[in-house]
Amino acid sequence: MDSIRNIVVLTGAGVSAESGIDTFRGGGGLWEQHRVEDVATPEAFARDPDLVLRFYDMRREAIQTKEPNAAHRALARLDAEWDGELLIVTQNVDDLHERAGARRVLHMHGEHLNAWCMACDERPRWTGTLIDRPACPACGEAALRPDIVWFGEMPYRMDEIFAALEQADLFVSIGTSGAVYPAAGFVRNARELGVETLELNLEPSQGTLWFDEARHGPATELVPEWVAEILAGSRA
Ligand code: OAD
Repeated sequence: MDSIRNIVVLTGAGVSAESGIDTFRGGGGLWEQHRVEDVATPEAFARDPDLVLRFYDMRREAIQTKEPNAAHRALARLDAEWDGELLIVTQNVDDLHERAGARRVLHMHGEHLNAWCMACDERPRWTGTLIDRPACPACGEAALRPDIVWFGEMPYRMDEIFAALEQADLFVSIGTSGAVYPAAGFVRNARELGVETLELNLEPSQGTLWFDEARHGPATELVPEWVAEILAGSRA
């Protein structure tokens, strides 16, 4: 562990599950309740914008009633105490990492609490609804959409993520099923670069065999344990 300086953490819906935010896959997951093609594609938005805006308005409202859990807090502790490089890449569109206190966070699939103006490209902070077609605070046009990466769109800041992986000594994947690319491929990218890899997930993910080590259980238990371990090792 002495040799670990730079860490890339990838988080998914499993890290927020114990805060009461639905995951996407598995029993009761969001994609069992809604068809992806109805609410999470540019084509769906073109076809039925009210349906899509209402779906994201409900999700935006719901996340504001949830609180960070012990896994978010442990990652915020790592962020505060880790002297080396750290990048927390999250596929989550909630703000629970930030509300727990983490600073080095990158949202590769966008954020519920941003809107994106299709007229002027601004991304204003947004906590209210979009269904009523509010004006963009920057340009005044009623052209705001959720700042969420939909299926068929390019995830954000991929160059920064790959640059961090190239410098990393350890890649840790937390609470993600390994079903959605490019995030699902990071473990293989990391391996090719000679980076040590660790999975922390409730159950084996689709990519579990690619990891050097996998630990299975709830994030609120596994993440605080791992953070305590790595911080203790770095001081040894
Ligand atoms: P998924 O719902 O696909 O997977 C969540 C994973 O978390 C599963 O492997 C669960 O076993 C695990 N899990 C559930 N509860 C857990 C807990 N308490 N502790 C630890 N692990 C737990 O969610 P993601 O992998 O994040 O994209 O999904 C990836 C992307 O697919 C999302 O960002 C979203 C979705 O479509 C977009 O919307 C663009």
